[in-house]
Amino acid sequence: MKKIVVPVFLVFLIFACGEQPNKQPKKLSASKIYTLYCQQCHGNKGNLLLNGASDFTKSTLTLEERIDVITNGRKTMLPYKNQLTASQIKAVAEYTMNL
Ligand code: HEC
Repeated sequence: MKKIVVPVFLVFLIFACGEQPNKQPKKLSASKIYTLYCQQCHGNKGNLLLNGASDFTKSTLTLEERIDVITNGRKTMLPYKNQLTASQIKAVAEYTMNL
């Protein structure tokens, strides 16, 4: 009897862990993040230039450099390391590469 109880308990544990609550911020797509946090200065095509924001369509920065600017900020652009996770920053940086 005991031999059955343990695996059943383990299966229950796996199911219980698999059902994680919806963590909204992690589910945001790159374009959603961009609309929420970046568009007000950079515009929906990346060339609004509000508050002196850089034009992504002319930017020569690499992905790594963009990640750095977004993470740590630069001049009037605030750092996003407290609002976004590292993977969200990477996703939105990739998004700016394609604007
Ligand atoms: C308050 C306005 C503002 C917001 C909001 C903002 N930025 Fe910026 N961003 C700027 C400004 C201003 C610069 C230019 C900084 C400088 O001159 O060094 C800049 C520069 C950048 C650069 C560097 C581009 C280059 O070629 O030099 C990247 C990448 C960037 N922003 C991405 C983002 C992303 C992604 C977001 C959203 C998470 C965002 N920004 C939100 C104002 C903003």
